[in-house]
Amino acid sequence: MTIGRLALVAAIASAALPALAQELALMTEARAAATSLPPRLVTALNEEIAKGGPEGAIPVCRDMAPKMAKEIGASTGWQLKRVTLKARNPQRATPDAWERATLAEFDRRAAAGENPSKLEKGEMVEQADGTRAFRYAKALPTQALCLNCHGPEDKLTAAVKARLAEHYPQDRATGYSEGQIRGAIVATKPL
Ligand code: HEC
Repeated sequence: MTIGRLALVAAIASAALPALAQELALMTEARAAATSLPPRLVTALNEEIAKGGPEGAIPVCRDMAPKMAKEIGASTGWQLKRVTLKARNPQRATPDAWERATLAEFDRRAAAGENPSKLEKGEMVEQADGTRAFRYAKALPTQALCLNCHGPEDKLTAAVKARLAEHYPQDRATGYSEGQIRGAIVATKPL
């Protein structure tokens, strides 16, 4: 390599490095914000199921999850959202184009043998209005606990089915088996 070329490579690297460092920092922040929600939900779900059965725990996924997401958003600056390709609550959980592509990619990667609990993606994107944002998604695999409300119809109790039918007449979020990807938690920060 000539000196001239070397200088060019060095110049490109020094221009790219700060951008790369910024992306890495954003990835770390987004991961921390997004992964703080699911364990809190699992704890609350287990507590409420122990107290009042799975039908009594429905408000945890319905009311507590969005409330916790808002609290985390307010304290970290990362907007959190849960999305899925098969929504129970389409008003809240319908994915946008980036989220839809990411969910499809997670399903493909899981089918190819990757561990669903490790699937994540983060990148800088340009939004429809021309501004930039960093977007991060982490797959939410279905655990045994989740089957109480997202499992096959014949595994749901009559009480759970009745409660779901009452609140979610267009529910598409049953029929999952353990390990399947239920959806993703997405963290977005406009830059
Ligand atoms: C007690 C019943 C119950 C259990 C257990 C449960 N969920 Fe849910 N889940 C719901 C309800 C109800 C909603 C709809 C929430 C809303 O109205 O936004 C929901 C919504 C979701 C959503 C948002 C997308 C959508 O379809 O609306 C995801 C993702 C999700 N659940 C994942 C999980 C995972 C993963 C587990 C296990 C760790 C789990 N859920 C356990 C009842 C449950």
